[in-house]
Amino acid sequence: MLGFSDGKPVSDGVKGGKGNRNAPVVMNSAYFTTQFWDGRSPSLEEQAEGPVVNPIEMGMTHEAVVERLTADPTYKAEFEKAFGPGPISYDMVAKAIASFERTVISANSPFDRYQYGGDKKALSASAIRGLEIFKNPAKGNCAVCHTIEEKHALFTDNKFHNLGVGLNNKGELTDLGRYDQTKLDADRGAFKTPSLRNIAASAPYMHDGSHKTLKEVVDFYIGGGNSNDYLDKEIKAIQLSAREREDLIAFMEALTGEIPPGLDDPKVTKAEVRR
Ligand code: HEC
Repeated sequence: MLGFSDGKPVSDGVKGGKGNRNAPVVMNSAYFTTQFWDGRSPSLEEQAEGPVVNPIEMGMTHEAVVERLTADPTYKAEFEKAFGPGPISYDMVAKAIASFERTVISANSPFDRYQYGGDKKALSASAIRGLEIFKNPAKGNCAVCHTIEEKHALFTDNKFHNLGVGLNNKGELTDLGRYDQTKLDADRGAFKTPSLRNIAASAPYMHDGSHKTLKEVVDFYIGGGNSNDYLDKEIKAIQLSAREREDLIAFMEALTGEIPPGLDDPKVTKAEVRR
């Protein structure tokens, strides 16, 4: 179980071709207002339409997908059950994938039981200290982007920020991220704040998979990200003791929740959508 990400720095496409971005976690994607690291796709349905025709990913046309599904009596029957009698269309395929993704919701993590379930024993003392560091603007200042609301927590503001991830050795941005969609200067090198749910199970980290462990990520934030002209104003060097760093990691490890029964089968998780 890799938190529905594929555990590789950048996703393998067909025939060993490589995409250029780390696969984001599908978990809880139903709640996000845009999908992909650069927010390219406005809905899960549209997102499901993308990867199939991106030749580096699945190397199949919509028509070929529909043809294959139609040729398989099991799929034919399942689609009729879901959509009524008639031929399978690619639109139905996109809807089916998106509906599946909506069911992949992680919940009931130790953090949820502590914060919203009234179970004060659900978190270790270290994780509780980590939560305070996470929220405290004078300490971690993490929750300013990885938000925690009063009644629920998605750990994302659904916005785009430049942390300076993926600079080359000349200090230049190698992937303009959100800018490619909006052409706004402020979006240069900005990527969508990822949710941190099940984060311990979805290494490597960042849009380019450049950090292998949560410890590396925390060290990156302690250093104030990578300086560049478009660095987010909320990213600056922070002071944390060795124990506070461990606490912050213990907190993030407490965000691993349960997934609905039957969805931990690797064959099923292959339905993961890339980027
Ligand atoms: C200014 C907003 C902002 C703040 C503050 C912030 N983050 Fe992030 N975080 C992001 C964005 C945006 C990314 C993705 C960046 C990228 O890949 O270019 C990210 C990525 C991450 C990741 C990797 C997630 C993944 O799926 O790869 C972790 C872990 C993380 N942040 C933890 C933290 C912690 C811990 C703090 C506090 C010390 C923090 N963040 C503060 C916006 C923020």
